[in-house]
Amino acid sequence: MKGKHIILGISGGIAAYKSATLLRLFIKAGAEVQVVMTPAGKEFITPVTLSALSGKPVVSEFFTANSGEWHSHVDLGLWADAMVIAPATASTIAKMANGVADNMLVTTYLSAKAPVFVAPAMDLDMFAHPTTSRNLDLLRSYGNTIIEPASGELASHLIGKGRMEEPENIFKVLEAFFAKQEDLKGKKMLVTAGPTYEKIDPVRFIGNYSTGKMGYAIAEEAASRGAEVVLVSGPVDIMPRHPAIHLVKVESAREMLAACEEHFPTADYAVMCAAVADYAPADCAATKIKREGNEPPVIHLVKNPDIAKTLGMKKRDGQKMVGFALETDHEFDNAMSKLRSKNLDMIVLNSLRDKGAGFGTDTNKITIFTADGGETSFGLKSKREVAADIIDTLITL
Ligand code: CTP
Repeated sequence: MKGKHIILGISGGIAAYKSATLLRLFIKAGAEVQVVMTPAGKEFITPVTLSALSGKPVVSEFFTANSGEWHSHVDLGLWADAMVIAPATASTIAKMANGVADNMLVTTYLSAKAPVFVAPAMDLDMFAHPTTSRNLDLLRSYGNTIIEPASGELASHLIGKGRMEEPENIFKVLEAFFAKQEDLKGKKMLVTAGPTYEKIDPVRFIGNYSTGKMGYAIAEEAASRGAEVVLVSGPVDIMPRHPAIHLVKVESAREMLAACEEHFPTADYAVMCAAVADYAPADCAATKIKREGNEPPVIHLVKNPDIAKTLGMKKRDGQKMVGFALETDHEFDNAMSKLRSKNLDMIVLNSLRDKGAGFGTDTNKITIFTADGGETSFGLKSKREVAADIIDTLITL
């Protein structure tokens, strides 16, 4: 944690007194901490205590009243290696989930490029309310990590779930996160993502429903762990956020193969996440195929190259390859046969029979099979969390 930049966001809950302990732990571990408080947070713990512990003035307003100095949430967002909101009240969580940027903390959150950790703290009924669950799910879907509250006696003297996790445990989560950031340092990862479009004529194509979310999540997770990432992506609407991701945009399977062949020889890992069209029209009409006066056209298809298989055949010692299998039936047999036929080290199976898995969703439910016989099933998680599970397993190979 030494030298890491942490934004500690404090909102207005009784657990704010524990934030001083958390801040102390970060400082003792060598981190630089900038405290950002909501106005309500200041009712529970004074900025003087926190600035004395952090060695930096606490930020709470957009401007310093007497000098007019502007506190740039944008600069703060770029400065941070991690942002921790502890305690995160129901109100702050709701504002974060919905982009209500009416205070410095939420504005900073919206500008933060670094991973965000949220430690909720509230009364048990507030925590159990569907609106809180929905807002926390939204935060998870943005890739934020929720540090679940513990059960115990609350400020209301009721017993239940809602008490902010102890500072020592929040600290451990951050410690593990920073340790993980070194996991892929010095490694290069090739990731394919999204669909491919195979042109029929200048305005039409054969494609599929892939949105690229899973592949982009893997690229972000790998980059956040120190890897240099080459993301070869079919046509999707997402932009990578991490500066260590080099995006190569392609359209067809053949273009995707060409980009992969260029980068694969120097890659340590390749994760084949793209939903590559298996067939392409044999010819692309030079002009738009017209409807009037014509019989329905017959489109002759040719097989596209199997990118994963092509690379799998060229795999050298030490290179590790991951494939995906999105299946509707005979899931296990299909996944195992793809693992073997494409010479993969690991395959990630998701079944369209599982709710929340597959194309377009922000979540996924996977089972990982490794070439050495390993099999692990995971619950329904955000795609970013799934990406972390995939990379955790990949690193053990
Ligand atoms: N894949 C690939 N190139 C292709 C087809 C698939 O690189 N032309 C990769 C995918 O990125 C994925 C894995 O191979 O990692 C399995 O993809 P999938 O479409 O499920 O398998 P296919 O081999 O195309 O088999 P099928 O469509 O018959 O299920």
